[in-house]
Parts: sequence; structure tokens; C-alpha cells
Amino acid sequence: MATSDTSFGGSGSGSTHTSAGNAVLIAAAAALGGFLFGYDTAVINGAVGAIRDKYDIGAGGTGLTVSLTLLGAALGAWIAGDLADRLGRIRVMQLAAVLFMLGSIGSAFPFSIYDLTFWRIVGGVGVGFAAVIAPAYIAEISPAAIRGRLGSMYQLAIVLGIAISQLVNYALHEAAGGDARGTLAGIEAWQWMLALEAIPALLYLLMTFPIPESPRFLILQGRHDEARKVLAEVEGGGEERVTSRIAEIRESLRERTAKISVRQLFSKEMGVAPLVWVGIGLAALQQFVGINVIFYYSATLWEAVGFGEDRSLLISVVSALVNIVGTFVAIAVIDRIGRRPLLLIGSVGMAVSLGITAICFSSAVVTTDADGDSVATLSGANGTIALIAANAFVFFFAFSWGPVVWVLISEMFPNRVRAAAVGVATAANWVANFLVSATFPSLADWNLSLTYGGYAVMAALSFFVVWKFVTETRGRTLEEAG
Ligand code: GLC
Repeated sequence: MATSDTSFGGSGSGSTHTSAGNAVLIAAAAALGGFLFGYDTAVINGAVGAIRDKYDIGAGGTGLTVSLTLLGAALGAWIAGDLADRLGRIRVMQLAAVLFMLGSIGSAFPFSIYDLTFWRIVGGVGVGFAAVIAPAYIAEISPAAIRGRLGSMYQLAIVLGIAISQLVNYALHEAAGGDARGTLAGIEAWQWMLALEAIPALLYLLMTFPIPESPRFLILQGRHDEARKVLAEVEGGGEERVTSRIAEIRESLRERTAKISVRQLFSKEMGVAPLVWVGIGLAALQQFVGINVIFYYSATLWEAVGFGEDRSLLISVVSALVNIVGTFVAIAVIDRIGRRPLLLIGSVGMAVSLGITAICFSSAVVTTDADGDSVATLSGANGTIALIAANAFVFFFAFSWGPVVWVLISEMFPNRVRAAAVGVATAANWVANFLVSATFPSLADWNLSLTYGGYAVMAALSFFVVWKFVTETRGRTLEEAG
């Protein structure tokens, strides 16, 4: 069953009164879900070189080891909504946490490369669950007045997760004597990298016990007394207000009784197919510009063009920090200058910086090492320019396409089709992420410069897609969408 059959989608207007303790816990729920999304997808960056060496898997195998987890995430995202309607939001978070822990420990201590990949897929399903449940839970439980900012805040949690994973990778690499295959307490550094994911996952699990179930789910289940209790706790406002909120939520749940299937979404009668295609296009282009090549492969990328393993991991930390700074810029300006201008500026910046990176890589001198892998080396100036251009690309992405696409997807569809359309666009994002990540090692082996040239073309294309098809949603209510 797809996310299309869910009751997700916010539950109308609430008061701005939220008790501070509850607000902190709820914010932590969202933050940790996004954080795990970032951490679990990017942690592989520090480990992949060692895994490639140890299991001698070549470029194609490396691509699959990194990316199959993303197919797991696509699957998780696809079924999370339906599961959340049956088991409850909290149960799905707990399931995600358990999958994260299993995936982390299983992939850190594998019997074979197949075993490792299997556990990465298991963890990936957890990523998909968390990635869907975090923003949905927040939308359902938080008062309307603070809901708008949550899209960018969610992205902030993702980029923090990426940054912490890069820092942990770097620290472990150093502690193991500057070698990802060096040992610490008898265990190789790359194994520690994967195993330590279990700690934030455990925190996530523990955190789900004190937070309340979503009132929307409780009402869906006919558990009105419990829903009243949660609403009173979270939103306050007295007996009368709680009663009217319950009525509101019931009303909005009734509206969706005519469930929309994915097929209906694309039918002529619904009249939203073009908009859905725009959503899919934005979600896919967010990945086709190659952003996650930086976050999943930068350590090996910079090593391949002549920076040492040490410096390459450090560069990955810097890129992750640039990513955070860019996200803060987006949070500061998104409601002032709007979504469209941000995307357009981002596209131009990304196309130029990716183009420059591609040109620098074209000057690389390629040789073959003892294992038969090709090794490229950049001359001094080209190396520095490529480094600056690649980080400029991260910055342009971070204040535009990173957060804005997630915000737009949550607000561009009419109410009656939103859940289904968001589900389809989100799945498209994970599949596109998989395609880019699976093919990068082989493409890089073939021609690194043309690979980056391809991402630059995608960035240029993204400009025209926004120019022609995206309408501004700044300042509009969700009811006015579509
Ligand atoms: C967006 C993308 C995600 C990427 C991140 C990088 O959230 O959806 O795939 O890793 O940005 O900041």
C-alpha cells in the first residue's frame, strides 16, 4: 500500500499555545528523524574506500553497496504512511529505530559483502520510515503557527546528521592511525563508523516512549478520550477548544474518505497530473544535480584526484559545514524572497560551479594502479579550483534546492490529493538518489569530467523547469494550493 492511502497531511489550525516541555520533545522527535536520515545515508562516505579494498568489489559493486540502502529507503517511504495509519505514528518510529540498529550492527560485522549489503538495505527501510514519519508527525501535532518553518528545519536536521557523520568518520580514521582499515580495540575503523550509528538510533527509540501519539491517529482509531488528552496537553486552550479541534480533525478525516490511488492521481478527471509531474521533476532534479555524490563519495573522490585519505575526509567535514551554513541562509530568507527566486539563483550557481569542477577534472592525468583501478591526479591549481568550485556547489544547493524542494513538495498540491502526491514525489526522490549513487563509481572510472559535466547540464535544465513550470507558493495557505 502506498502513502496515498494515509491520513497524513496536517490537521488544520491550532493555537500557538504549546507547553514548553512538550514542544521540546516533539521538536526532538522531528530533529532525530531527519538527523538519522542524514547520518545513515552519509556515514558510508568514510567507510566505502575500506569496504571496496577489503571485499575487492570494483566500481559497480561499490555503487551498489552505497546505493542499495536508498532503494530500501524508497520502499520504506512508500509503505510508511499506510503502516502509520494501522500501527500508529509512534510504533512506526520504534520500528524505524529497531531497523536502524539492526542495519548498523549487521553491516558493521558482516560475514560477506552480500551480508553487508543486506543489512544496509534493512537500515535503509528505517531511513525511509523516519524520513516520512518525522515531518508528518510534526505536521499533525504542532500548532499551525509554527508549522511553516518546519520544512526547512527538517532539512537542517538532515544536514546536521550528515555533518556529524563526517566528523565521527574523521575522528575514527585519525584514532585508527590515519587509516580506515586501521584497528581500534581490535575492530577496524570503518566498522566502528557503521556500528556507531546504533547510538542515535537507540536515542530515537528511547525518545519515542515519552512523546504522545498523534491525535489524528487516535481519532482515526476512534480513541477520542485519548485524543482529547493529547490535544489538551499539546495545544491547551480548555475544554471547548479541544472539542472544536476534535470536530475539525474528524471533518478533515472525512474529506479524505474518497481515497486517491496513484493511478487516479495521473488520470484526466483529477486534473492534477501536470502538477504531479512537476513535483516528480523537482524531486528527481534535486538528486540529478549530483549533490549526494559529494556526501556519499567525497572521501574517495578527493583521494582519487590526488588528495590524501586524511585530507579527503577533512574536506568532507568542510563540505558538510558549508551545507549547514547554506541551510541557515535558506531558513532566513525563504519566507521573504520566496521559493522561485531561491531555486533560480541556486540553479545558476550550481550549473556554473559544477561546470568549473568538470573543467578542472578534465585536466586530470589518469593512470592505473596495482589493483587495476584508474587513478586521476590534478595539478596544484586545478585541484584547488575544483575544491573551491565543488564546495561552492554545495553552498548553492544548500540554500536553494536542498530545503526548497522539500518545502514546495509539502505545499504545492491541493488538499484532496496531497498525501498521494507527496508520496509519489518522495519515492521519486529516493529512486533518483539511488540512480545517481549507483552509477557514480562506474561513471567516474569512465570519465570524471564528463560525469560532472552531466550534473552541470542537469543543473542548467533545473533552471528552465523552474522558470516554466513552478509557481510561487510563498504566503499562500495550503488550501489555496494547486
Ligand atoms: C536534501 C536531499 C538529500 C541530501 C541533502 C543534502 O535533503 O534530499 O538527499 O542528502 O539535501 O543536504
